Amino acid sequence: MTILVAGATGTVGRHVVDQLLQRGQKVRALTRNPQLANLPHGVEVVAGDLSDPNTLVSALVGISGMHLITTGAEYAPLQTGPEIVELAEKAGVRRVTVLWNGEKGPFEKAVESSSLEWTQL
Ligand SMILES: NC(=O)c1ccc[n+]([C@@H]2O[C@H](COP(=O)([O-])OP(=O)(O)OC[C@H]3O[C@@H](n4cnc5c(N)ncnc54)[C@H](OP(=O)(O)O)[C@@H]3O)[C@@H](O)[C@H]2O)c1
Repeated sequence: MTILVAGATGTVGRHVVDQLLQRGQKVRALTRNPQLANLPHGVEVVAGDLSDPNTLVSALVGISGMHLITTGAEYAPLQTGPEIVELAEKAGVRRVTVLWNGEKGPFEKAVESSSLEWTQL
């Protein structure tokens, strides 16, 4: 089982990555700047931008679980959530955790109405 972690280079995501590694999970980390990621040995770092879902297609190959963030810069809700959820479903992702921002935006609604098993954090 490989878990794709969005926001892996951030304050929260680094803890998610560490805890998944401690549990023996394979981790693929999503970042816009792989050369700056500085993530632990063993993490597969891949490039992708959540605001441009086309960049996520290869990052989703072979992924069964995913940790998502729903906001970009300055807590602005990502408008691409529905497309990301659709891509995840098509790629065969089964389970997602969502770092919830307190308000239910288009991303959270798309997750809730998807076929994915989800947990809001
Ligand atoms: N900290 C909290 O308590 C909290 C609570 C609820 C929600 N949030 C939201 O959850 C997200 C993560 O929180 P944080 O505190 O860990 O944030 P952070 O330390 O500011 O890090 C932001 C993370 O989001 C990634 N990111 C931002 N825009 C992206 C995009 N367009 N495509 C791909 N990755 C993108 C960055 O990745 P790269 O720069 O490597 O691409 C980085 O890993 C933030 O968007 C924040 O607004 C945070």
